[in-house]
Amino acid sequence: MSKQKQTGEMTSSKKKTILSGIQPSGRLHLGNYFGAIRQHLDFQEKGDAFYFIANYHSLTSVQDGDRLRQYTFDVALDYLALGMDPEKCTFFAQSDVPQVLELAWILGTLTPVSMMEKGVSFKDKVAQGLQPNIGLFTYPVLQAADILIYHSDIVPVGADQKQNIEISRDLAARFNRVYEGDYLRIPEPYIVESVATVPGIDGRKMSKSYGNTIDIFDNGKTLKKKVMAVVTDSTPLEDPKNPDSCNVYALIRLFAGTEKNREIRKKYQAGGFGYGHAKKELLALVDDYFHEARARREQLVRHPDTVRDMLRDGGRKARERAEKVMEPVREVAGIVRHFSTL
Ligand code: ADP
Ligand code: TRP
Repeated sequence: MSKQKQTGEMTSSKKKTILSGIQPSGRLHLGNYFGAIRQHLDFQEKGDAFYFIANYHSLTSVQDGDRLRQYTFDVALDYLALGMDPEKCTFFAQSDVPQVLELAWILGTLTPVSMMEKGVSFKDKVAQGLQPNIGLFTYPVLQAADILIYHSDIVPVGADQKQNIEISRDLAARFNRVYEGDYLRIPEPYIVESVATVPGIDGRKMSKSYGNTIDIFDNGKTLKKKVMAVVTDSTPLEDPKNPDSCNVYALIRLFAGTEKNREIRKKYQAGGFGYGHAKKELLALVDDYFHEARARREQLVRHPDTVRDMLRDGGRKARERAEKVMEPVREVAGIVRHFSTL
């Protein structure tokens, strides 16, 4: 096997493989959009991008077949509506690449238990007094398999995923050391640090688990109700206000262009501009920003077979790539099979 250069820089002339996964575990919200999805969409233009719906990972928290099927389809709809283009990237479901589970097992045999015990989300669950299952315990090994099976160079993720990418790098290096060759490529994380945590309606980090989200595809009354519920302080309408300590402005600045941002900051500082006014601005901005995506989503909902065909094609491409990486991995590990999975 040829020696690959192990770097994640975007400067080389050869197209880099970019990979990321999205768990289908509920409706996508503004935090997901600005923290992850927007970067995924940008990266489609910058390399050979692979994006998948991590349905096996979601099994660690969603244990209801109909719900998981629905979430999986919804994430596909949402991404396609937001601009994921199957002509530009490979978009597929994790479960359409069974080789991933095979590699996860092999990597698991090289993973010290102590490494998983240090996992942040595993430790969180234990600290909350929950009894995590083995799936959650070994979640990072499956994530490593997701990444390594396509020879990914760059993995764009939120800062909370840093540790999992470190584990993937470690496991690739272990495999290469144990089996004495460059079988798996060491990936680089691409962490988007510039996007501050998007606040939810109650001012805490926007998160499904806090029930404080504004969802990307909320509209009409639901959207209005949520925007109007964003928590503010009680500065009187006529007084000047500080945009930088306001949850409404923290959301406005994500949507408004430079000019509009400047204009709204001035209004805050001048006084006579109440939080009700700010919320109206926010509502109009959100509505406008996702207007086209909403229309595309409505179209796609009416054509579920088109969506499934896209996923099927993406799955085929992903499987071909995965199989190329798996063949030498099986061979060197001495795993004998008498059939083909392609
Ligand atoms: P949730 O907290 O709602 O369960 P996830 O953990 O599924 O969200 O988030 C998936 C990705 O979306 C994360 O890796 C992170 O990059 C991004 N993300 C989620 N919430 C926020 C937020 N409030 N601000 C910025 N990014 C976020
Ligand atoms: N753990 C990721 C998250 O919760 C999802 C994920 C699964 C992923 N496999 C991946 C992300 C591989 C990047 C690469 O957001």
